[in-house]
Amino acid sequence: MLVLGIETSCDETAAAVVRRQTEMLSNVIASQCEHLRYGGVVPELAARAHIKLILPVIQQALDEADVTLDDLDGIAVTSGPGLVGSLLVGISAAKSIALARGIPLLGVHHLEGHIFANFIANPELAPPFICLLVSGGHSELMLVREKGDYQILGRTCDDAAGEAFDKVAKMLELPYPGGPSIQKEAETGDPRFVDLPIAQVKKNPLDFSFSGLKTAVLTILESHDRDWLTDHRADIAASFQEAVVRALVSKTIAAAEANHIDTIVLAGGVASNRRLRELARQETSVRGMAVFYPPLKLCTDNAVMIAAAGAYRLANGERSDMTLNAIPTLKLGTRS
Ligand code: KG4
Ligand code: ZN
Repeated sequence: MLVLGIETSCDETAAAVVRRQTEMLSNVIASQCEHLRYGGVVPELAARAHIKLILPVIQQALDEADVTLDDLDGIAVTSGPGLVGSLLVGISAAKSIALARGIPLLGVHHLEGHIFANFIANPELAPPFICLLVSGGHSELMLVREKGDYQILGRTCDDAAGEAFDKVAKMLELPYPGGPSIQKEAETGDPRFVDLPIAQVKKNPLDFSFSGLKTAVLTILESHDRDWLTDHRADIAASFQEAVVRALVSKTIAAAEANHIDTIVLAGGVASNRRLRELARQETSVRGMAVFYPPLKLCTDNAVMIAAAGAYRLANGERSDMTLNAIPTLKLGTRS
C-alpha cells in the first residue's frame, strides 16, 4: 500500500510517500524563510508560501519515491490542529488529487502524526508506552495504550515547551526558531549558572507550566545591562534549557511509574533537543526503562509522519469525504 502524505499545518510545506505504513520512500520538506525577519510565523505569509510550494513539493516527493499519482492507494493530509489558512492549502491539494484520481482520502491529526514518526523510525516499538509530545504548539504527556488510543495524562497550562524556547530565544536575541538556537548557544554555557524555577502544578502534578520560567529569565535580563548579556548569554541559555528538560523528563518518568509502563517515547520538534534525549536516556536506563525517539528529520514537522498515521487508518478502512475541512483546534485523545 502506497500512501502520499501532505503536511502544511504551520510553516513547513511537506510531502512524502510511505509504503506498507512504515517504509519511507521519500521525505520532502520546504521550510519557509519568509518568517525569519519577523522572528516568528506570520500566518498570512505562510498560507501564500504554501500555495507557491505545494505542487512542486508533491511532485518532488513522487519523483524521489519513483512513483506516479497512478500508483497511489491513498492520500493522507493534516486536517488540524494548525493555522487555518495553511491547513486549507494542503487539504485542497489532497482533495483535488483524490477526486481527480479516485483515490481514498484521509484527514490526519497532526499530533498523531508526531507519534507515528516513532513507528517509522523504530519498527520494534509497540504500545503501551508513555509519549512526551513536545512541539511549538503542544506539550502533552499521554498514555498510548495502542495505536489510535490516547489518554492525556498531563499537558501545559500555559506555553508549549517549544514556544517557551522560541520566546526565551527572542529575549536572548537569538534567531528563530528558538529551540535549535538555544541548544547551540547552551553548548558553551554553564547549566548551573542560575537555578531557574520548575513550576509544580498543584491541580495535576503531571501538567506543565513554563510561563514562570520565562518570566524568571526576563527578570534576570532586566536587572542587567547588555554587556552582561553578551558575557552570559550562553549561561542563561544553558540554565533555561536545563530547567525545561528536567521538568519534561521528571514528569515523563513519573507518568511511566504511576502507570506501570516501562517504555517512553519522545515526539515533536522539541524531541530533537540533544540535552532532552541525553537526560531521557540517563533517567530511563537507571530504571530499566526503554526510550525511543525519531531521527532529527522526523521530529520536526514532516509529511512522512502524516503518511504513516494515514496509512494505518486507511488500512483500517477509515476514509474522509470531500467535506473534509481544516480544524485549527482539533483535539486528540481523552483526558483522564
Ligand atoms: O513539531 P514542530 O516542528 O512544529 C509544531 O508542531 O509546533 O516543533 C517546532 C518547535 C519550535 O518551537 C522549535 O523551537 C522547537 O520545536 N525545536 C526545538 C529544537 N528543535 C526544534 N526545541 C528545543 N531544542 C531543539 N533542538
Ligand atoms: Zn508539529
